[in-house]
Amino acid sequence: MSLVITDLHAQLEDGTEILKGVTLEIPAGEVHAIMGPNGSGKSTLSKVISGHEGYEVTAGSVTLDGEDILEMSIDERSRAGVFLAFQYPAEVPGVSNANFIRAALQARLPKGQELDAVAYYKSLYEKMDLLEMDRKFTARAVNEGFSGGEKKRNEILQMLMLEPKYCILDETDSGLDIDALKIVAKGVNAMRSTDRGMLLITHYQRLLDYIKPDVVHVMSAGRIVKTGGPELALELEEKGYDFLKELTVA
Ligand SMILES: Nc1ncnc2c1ncn2[C@@H]1O[C@H](COP(=O)(O)OP(=O)(O)O)[C@@H](O)[C@H]1O
Ligand SMILES: [Mg+2]
Repeated sequence: MSLVITDLHAQLEDGTEILKGVTLEIPAGEVHAIMGPNGSGKSTLSKVISGHEGYEVTAGSVTLDGEDILEMSIDERSRAGVFLAFQYPAEVPGVSNANFIRAALQARLPKGQELDAVAYYKSLYEKMDLLEMDRKFTARAVNEGFSGGEKKRNEILQMLMLEPKYCILDETDSGLDIDALKIVAKGVNAMRSTDRGMLLITHYQRLLDYIKPDVVHVMSAGRIVKTGGPELALELEEKGYDFLKELTVA
């Protein structure tokens, strides 16, 4: 059981290649982190895995528990168990948070089966309590007028409710103050499980003080250039991303 990315190449519509052969395996039960400088292709990788438009895969494969997901629509990938918490979460005007998550859960049920409303709200409130989110966020339109930190927390709420098999968190730590970071980490740690794989994308080591990864990858210029244990994140923080230059030359 794993999310396997093999020699993935992807380009923009204008032909600019952003991912230049990414190979990565995230087994269920493990938490992996990808660190790397701005512009190295981290968000592009997460969007290509989740099926975002605007990127063309020119080579390589992405499989989820052995199943090729590159031919699937965003929706199908989501139902297959991929979840992406966006670096810049989108606003969905006119749709309340509670209805948005409810619709996503309903869509996962077999035809004709109705989501139990009482159980749904009970679970929603439990998760909001864990994330210290005010109940007023159930009625507000998805992310509309939310602060940066509130949007990030809301992404984690969706993740907790959908219980995806593979979670990708793109810079969920950026824009969070330390208290919010701890709360988000609590939510993510609550999701850790032997049958779930997680990929944390982050520019900073800070998040990894609260969510201990099993494996750390360093991405630079569209490739994974180094893989190691949690100590790699500390090394990167200490030396800065300049040390990548040595790696790319070597
Ligand atoms: N839709 C897009 N249009 C134009 N350039 C893009 C687009 N998506 C990504 N890029 C470019 O691809 C490179 C990698 O971007 P991104 O994946 O966001 O990097 P990271 O998340 O590591 O900071 C950057 O140079 C960025 O400007
Ligand atoms: Mg990014």
